[in-house]
Amino acid sequence: MTGSLPSCASKCDATNCGIDVILHFGDLNDANFLRLVIKEISPHELYNLAAQSNVGASWDDAEYTFNVNALGIVRLLEALRSCGLSQKTRIFQVIVIRNFRA
Ligand SMILES: NC(=O)c1ccc[n+]([C@@H]2O[C@H](COP(=O)([O-])OP(=O)(O)OC[C@H]3O[C@@H](n4cnc5c(N)ncnc54)[C@H](O)[C@@H]3O)[C@@H](O)[C@H]2O)c1
Repeated sequence: MTGSLPSCASKCDATNCGIDVILHFGDLNDANFLRLVIKEISPHELYNLAAQSNVGASWDDAEYTFNVNALGIVRLLEALRSCGLSQKTRIFQVIVIRNFRA
């Protein structure tokens, strides 16, 4: 794997919690970004809530919606596997069927 994380990573304070949170803004369709950020973070748990969640838009652009909502989790799993984290990281995936109703 080559390259480095984009400069959009930023650190912010989770107000009232006293916890530092580092935000990495990226696209679930960008497999290379996912590999880089997962390699850097090496998470114990990963929660995927990202989605194209607008039902109307999902009908207008079914291919994009499928790419984000269905293949996004595949890219995350592949990123975890390629970083050797398959046995370490627990992944939580939001599932919705409404977007794909005919
Ligand atoms: N809100 C609810 O009551 C509810 C109930 C059941 C299921 N869900 C499901 O949970 C998921 C999240 O729901 P929500 O209400 O938080 O939706 P939301 O639209 O508020 O949040 C989705 C987030 O995903 C991000 N996103 C979209 N495309 C992306 C991409 N390519 N890469 C990275 N991020 C991307 C958006 O910017 C947004 O921040 C959806 O799949 C939704 O269908 C939500």
